[in-house]
Amino acid sequence: MAKMLGIGIATVDIINTVEGYPAENDEIRALSQRRCRGGNCANTLTVLQHLGHECMFAGILAEEPDGQFITQELKQQGINTDNCRIVKGKTPTSYVTLSRATGSRTIVHYRDLPEFSFADFANIDLSPFDWLHFEGRNVAETARMLALVRERFPSLPWSVEIEKPRPGIESLFEGAAVLLFSRHYVTYHGYSEAQTFLQKWHATLPDTEKICAWGEEGAYAIDEEGKMHHAPAFFPPQVVDTLGAGDTFNAGFLDARLRHRSLSESLTFGCQLAGRKCGQQGFDGLGSSDLKP
Ligand code: ADP
Ligand code: FRU
Repeated sequence: MAKMLGIGIATVDIINTVEGYPAENDEIRALSQRRCRGGNCANTLTVLQHLGHECMFAGILAEEPDGQFITQELKQQGINTDNCRIVKGKTPTSYVTLSRATGSRTIVHYRDLPEFSFADFANIDLSPFDWLHFEGRNVAETARMLALVRERFPSLPWSVEIEKPRPGIESLFEGAAVLLFSRHYVTYHGYSEAQTFLQKWHATLPDTEKICAWGEEGAYAIDEEGKMHHAPAFFPPQVVDTLGAGDTFNAGFLDARLRHRSLSESLTFGCQLAGRKCGQQGFDGLGSSDLKP
């Protein structure tokens, strides 16, 4: 199992489950409410930790009760937070409306906290790690982090999650072992199909594994020879909660790759794990080994 460092955000998610998604200016009652720790990187690490990896989260935490809640939750999962920076401020919060009718999650996110910086990252001893996973955000600082890794630890592999289109985010592509693209990023750039997008980037970055999750259509990847791979989505008996499906897919894919499974097997495992996640609330129990290729 691998020692993994994830650099990104952790949030508080306030999740209201509703019968069906409301219309604008409606007033409806939630069926239930829960509050949990979220954030793409923190979610992915949670699933990786459940899958047996030893994870450390590096990000900014606010010095207030919600920040302490996040620390406790991560520690409870066994995730190390020693390299987080604690600052005065407000914890990033997502207000999530989860539709019972469809399992869809609509997120209103508010943040007003500094981002983890190059200086924070430079303080971390990277020598124990087998893999680094970055959220594609805070582009200029993250580019410096990647340059540092390339210079000081040239054989240490890393992945970058490219979820939201951000100015200059393409500067984070080069040198990654794995790039995990979202459908949102791909369609924002005018592609209606993952395959055309992946082929386009394959010409520039043939040695990087490029993956694209595509919601209910599963996920696509292109290999070093330019061959396209596709895994279908795995539908649970009932879609209950799609919040963090992409984060779970990323964890499943990385886990399988770290266990030297083929690109195709890793795509399939990512989709199976994400499908299982959609059929349940939260991330608990996703580490059970029955799905593992
Ligand atoms: P997100 O919107 O959370 O970033 P995606 O919608 O791209 O993530 O989904 C990630 C993966 O989760 C997909 O590749 C698919 O395997 C799985 N998935 C997403 N939605 C569903 C669903 N309704 N049923 C089953 N699997 C799903
Ligand atoms: C799900 C998620 C939530 C979080 C939001 C941040 O993918 O990580 O847990 O609140 O996205 O954008």
